[in-house]
Amino acid sequence: MALKTIDALQLAGKRVFIRVDFNVPLDEQGKVTDDARIRAALPTITYAIAQKAKVILASHLGRPKGKSDDKARFTLEPAAVRLSELLGQDVILADDCAGDGVVKLARELREGQVLLLENLRFHPEEEANDEGFAKELAALCDVWVNDAFGTAHRAHASTAGMARFVKEKAAGFLVKKEVEYLGKALGNPARPFVALVGGAKVSDKIKVLENLLARADTVCIGGAMAYTFLAAQEVPVGKSLVEKDKLELARQIMDKARARKVDLLLPVDHVCGDAPKETARRVVVADRAIPADLMGLDIGPRTLDAYRQRILSAGTVFWNGPMGLFEQKPWAEGTSGVARAMAQAKGVTVVGGGDSAAAVEQAGLVDQMTHVSTGGGASLEFIEGRELPGVKACED
Ligand code: 3PG
Repeated sequence: MALKTIDALQLAGKRVFIRVDFNVPLDEQGKVTDDARIRAALPTITYAIAQKAKVILASHLGRPKGKSDDKARFTLEPAAVRLSELLGQDVILADDCAGDGVVKLARELREGQVLLLENLRFHPEEEANDEGFAKELAALCDVWVNDAFGTAHRAHASTAGMARFVKEKAAGFLVKKEVEYLGKALGNPARPFVALVGGAKVSDKIKVLENLLARADTVCIGGAMAYTFLAAQEVPVGKSLVEKDKLELARQIMDKARARKVDLLLPVDHVCGDAPKETARRVVVADRAIPADLMGLDIGPRTLDAYRQRILSAGTVFWNGPMGLFEQKPWAEGTSGVARAMAQAKGVTVVGGGDSAAAVEQAGLVDQMTHVSTGGGASLEFIEGRELPGVKACED
């Protein structure tokens, strides 16, 4: 179904509640260390301001478990500061997201002003999708807009419940863009369609893999999950992480790939260490088999080269999950190499959020991708083929 977006509504003079995902990482001083999610919400926010709406923003940050007793850690104040810098205008920060004080602030809001409510998850009713709480939030506004793609897989009061109690509703530009790019990559990809799937566990990615096997021409596997696949083929993997109870599952996936004529590529060489530590001895193993005293921690140079060739000749590339333990420098080359290859690719390049998005951000290559999703869990569920409650709630 085509999503109605915010630009289909008359906003002038109306109180427009925009659910955003400002769940951003903070440093120890409480400063935002990655503002990608705040920047991604700007098109919707600035549009509402330009249309003379009275803008009410709401988000969660972290998992305060329905309590506000650790407010210093979970406050949205750092996000308010960063948003104000990006917008070049004041952002009023409410000290709660519900109650008389908030009602008063919302009522006094003038056209073009921006009010950010305090962390929604200070109230247990948010995650419980409590009807009374959803009604209370809905009473603050005339229009509800969901632009929190990163939280669209959660059926919470602000992401889904509220939609039933507002007169008008729509998706924000970010939600629309995410659904379009991720949906197009999966539904109608320019071919060949190459998918790269990494991460630690086969069990985390099983549904993603199954969905991709039905659509992709090539699937390249990286990350620790590759060792479960190799072990399933009885290739020695030394001390590498293997999910012993998923060997049969890995075999089934490989059988399915064969039956569907999908090229499923596994690492042919490895970067290994004797422990998953930054200080461990780094050894390039030029063979599929890993010696008994070593563990695979990244794809090797020949594997990276093979994956790069596929990426460069693809019509569409979709990437989810790191190729190795990329948080530690000795094992980051596979992941950053994939990011660089995607940046050079001529085809459509879509990065499916989470760690792969962080790696692209780290490499400074975001602008060279067709789309980098702001959703971790949300993009994963989308690619698994599941309906996202936050997107569904925007539909009429
Ligand atoms: C995310 O960072 O994936 C979203 O903001 C959702 O957060 P949650 O996993 O705590 O619901």
